[in-house]
Amino acid sequence: MSKTIIISNRLPVQLQIDNRKITATPSVGGLATGMKSVHSGGDSLWIGWSGLTDEEIPNGLAPEIDKALAKHGSSKVSLTTAEVDGFYYGFSNRTIWPLFHYFLEYAEFELESWNIYKAVNQKFADAILEKAEDDDIIWVHDYQLMLVPQMVRKQRPNVSIGFFLHIPFPSYEIFRTLPWRKEVLEGLLGADLIGFHTYDYERHFLSSVRRLLRLEVSFNDIHLDDRVIKVDSFPMGIDYKKFSDAAKKHHENKEVDKSELQKRLDMHKKNQPNAKFLLSIDRLDYSKGIAKRLKAFEYFLNENPQYKEKVRLIILAVPSRSNVPQYQLLKKEIDELVGRINGEFSTVSWTPIWYFYRSMPFENLIDLYTSCDIAWLTPIRDGMNLVAKEYIATRTDKTGVLILSEMAGSANEMNESLLINPNNFEEISEALLQAINMPKEEQQARNGILQKRLERYNVEKWANDFMTSLLEQKQNEKQHK
Ligand code: UDP
Ligand code: G6P
Repeated sequence: MSKTIIISNRLPVQLQIDNRKITATPSVGGLATGMKSVHSGGDSLWIGWSGLTDEEIPNGLAPEIDKALAKHGSSKVSLTTAEVDGFYYGFSNRTIWPLFHYFLEYAEFELESWNIYKAVNQKFADAILEKAEDDDIIWVHDYQLMLVPQMVRKQRPNVSIGFFLHIPFPSYEIFRTLPWRKEVLEGLLGADLIGFHTYDYERHFLSSVRRLLRLEVSFNDIHLDDRVIKVDSFPMGIDYKKFSDAAKKHHENKEVDKSELQKRLDMHKKNQPNAKFLLSIDRLDYSKGIAKRLKAFEYFLNENPQYKEKVRLIILAVPSRSNVPQYQLLKKEIDELVGRINGEFSTVSWTPIWYFYRSMPFENLIDLYTSCDIAWLTPIRDGMNLVAKEYIATRTDKTGVLILSEMAGSANEMNESLLINPNNFEEISEALLQAINMPKEEQQARNGILQKRLERYNVEKWANDFMTSLLEQKQNEKQHK
């Protein structure tokens, strides 16, 4: 029987070792949280990096690591510290991530990291080849593994390969600056189906293929030798039921079952019943616009002093890629901004910003989503942004307002939220006023529509649509040969 092999840099869990004891924590980020739901429901094997380098694994512990991962239907690709530096911190996160998010000035073009990226992609391809049978379906994920489709295709010409990019694909004018642009496109074209979150990313990709490789493109089919590669958009959804069920259960919790965080939130709500809680949750990443959001909040408080002591911003910033200098600088900038704004506006009974720099367990994410009146997400660029969808899914009584950057992929499907340009402080300030004062009926009307859409286009449907399209593509190709 054929199986699906999922392959991505991150596995559903990250392993840590302390005193030869192995612990597994859930991975953060949209790819891992979304695919986890798809993986747990089906017969699939997930291949990826465990989060540990070879040097961190004590002698004799490798079999235990394999066992720990097998519990999560996963299998590891081993990476040395030097490989992680060049491939993950280097080419993936100092070249591709900034470039594809339009932070051209942050993108570094280093031959050495590119060479390590190639070698590590070959390692991932070899890991697939070792496990895959000819009739298996191989689903490769994201920008860390863009060369894998071609590497697998070379060895197994007939196998089905799908590729999904979880980040934006930039416009040709940006993409063309990459020294290894042709190799990256050729790597991707090893797949039978290439999926993006939005039609815009798809269009950008096709335009680069046309202009850089001079290949024949008809509608969304690319013709390469005797193969036809399909390109399409599949906006990723969330496990809607998981979030809405958790929120329902949360509201039924007795006092003793509540988390410490929830008790604190309840206490503040009781003391200041008219105050509004604003929430943002992101990895601490420059693409998420956290520093701009803080400055916009300062602008809002200065322009609307009547809202002092009436609004509180809760920021959950999850540590991410902290070996990359841009992330360290951003952390410093955010620390300073939070300090400055709190210093400037705090009163004895009010701290305008609560700032958490950590990841939180699922239960606490639900506490935050269900307790905050407004979710305020301002990415400068974001492939999708699942947090926006998760917030709406947890609003069981349909109240709550989502303010969302139009630069997030999810904005395409969330027109009923308040869409803003993250660089326009005046517009953001207006949106905050509108959100704070929005009548309950209007909130419910907007969220009712959003919820129906998110429930229907959930992550399961996303994965099924992608798989169906991949199988159809393979079928069509066979008929044409
Ligand atoms: N998330 C998490 N732990 C946290 C904070 C966030 O697991 O402490 C999850 C969140 O629920 C969401 C994902 O991380 O599913 C973030 O995905 P998103 O698409 O918003 O952004 P990404 O991090 O992929 O850029
Ligand atoms: C985004 C990327 C994922 C990545 C995640 C977390 O969602 O698209 O590929 O896994 O961020 O980032 P990290 O570098 O910790 O894997």
